Amino acid sequence: MHFRFPDGFEWGTAASAHQTEGNNVNSDYWLLEHVPGTIFAEPSGDACDHFRRYREDIAMIAGLGLQVYRLSIEWARIEPEEGVFSVAALDHYRRVLATCHEYGVSPCVTFHHFTSPRWFSADGGWEDDQGADRFARYCERATVHLGDLITMGCTINEPDVPLMLSLIGIFPEGGIKAQAAFVAEAARRCGSTTERFGAFMFGDMRRTRDVMAAAHRKAREAIKSVRGDFPLGLTLSMADDQAVPGGEATRDRVRAELYGPFLEAAREDDFIGVQTYSRQRWGKDGPLPPEAGVPTVIMGYEFWPEALEATVRYAAAETDVPVWVTENGIGTDDDAQRIDYVRRALEGVARCLADGVDVRGYFYWSLLDNFEWMLGYAPRFGLVAVDRATQVRTPKPSAQWFARVARANALDDD
Ligand code: BGC
Repeated sequence: MHFRFPDGFEWGTAASAHQTEGNNVNSDYWLLEHVPGTIFAEPSGDACDHFRRYREDIAMIAGLGLQVYRLSIEWARIEPEEGVFSVAALDHYRRVLATCHEYGVSPCVTFHHFTSPRWFSADGGWEDDQGADRFARYCERATVHLGDLITMGCTINEPDVPLMLSLIGIFPEGGIKAQAAFVAEAARRCGSTTERFGAFMFGDMRRTRDVMAAAHRKAREAIKSVRGDFPLGLTLSMADDQAVPGGEATRDRVRAELYGPFLEAAREDDFIGVQTYSRQRWGKDGPLPPEAGVPTVIMGYEFWPEALEATVRYAAAETDVPVWVTENGIGTDDDAQRIDYVRRALEGVARCLADGVDVRGYFYWSLLDNFEWMLGYAPRFGLVAVDRATQVRTPKPSAQWFARVARANALDDD
């Protein structure tokens, strides 16, 4: 396929603070990683030491000819205790954002990417209505300090993902905390109780969804009250939800439950961030496992790069706002497979654009091999390898391939 992307189409990479910075010791996830019986395969530790090495990493993004770096700022560093804002932490992020500008890279800032301060989760977190106000207050404070350097903003990363994990049967209905002793121990260590402890992903999924939908709206208002001049939205984890014959009603019910409240909110946003990795098939009685004969990846789901085309079309049709692909990628040790995956995903984006769908950019997840949450460092999503002992970065062939596409602003058969 030969396809030229529209002028101004944005190429970038995406990452999050906890997965790359290292030593996010005041966060609820750090605690959850370190209690006995934890389901984290290994702790995040130094991660990619991006907290100190951000300049080198931003220079690499610029060197690849990419225009955008989607990163997250860490609430647990910025508001280490309730109402106590660290100017030093905010200044750190000012330096990070200024470095982006220095290299001609536009920073797209996510205000929440899975992790929260311990005090927040200990005191109800994402299962308490106060959570929405607390989050909005932090967003406002951060925007006052950083807003002039932000070129695009995402309030919350994938607020639908906890319920998604429960609907596809990975986490129990009602939340893993109801069954897992390690969450009870984490709660105890921060002076909370299992019931009260409201860390993202581990608690009551439906409650979390509703508090997060409210938090997004309040955060949007708070951020816009400080600065209204950068595009602001949220990002959703979206699979290409396919119904096998008879599964249509189930698929549609799941979509309504999972994405519904967020798609509704996004209609008033400046864009919707689509994050897609694979497809999910639905039968009459619920989720179906990978189809026989379809290869799977280390994450357990199908290798299905065409999913992105379906989710971009769906999100655009449902919201009628511009779409940015704020994450898409593959965890694999086979870099040729990565190139194949991204090429096929981009061909889908090209078909959307050819049909007039308003897609503004594509951010590959991720620049670096980084901390893949409960799975630790085994899944490698990076365009750039990171030596875990030395932190030395080594670009993979896919980095050069992606850079060529971005520089040409075009896909070609090569
Ligand atoms: C998340 C990332 C994660 C990526 C790959 C997305 O769901 O936003 O934090 O690393 O998928 O699994």
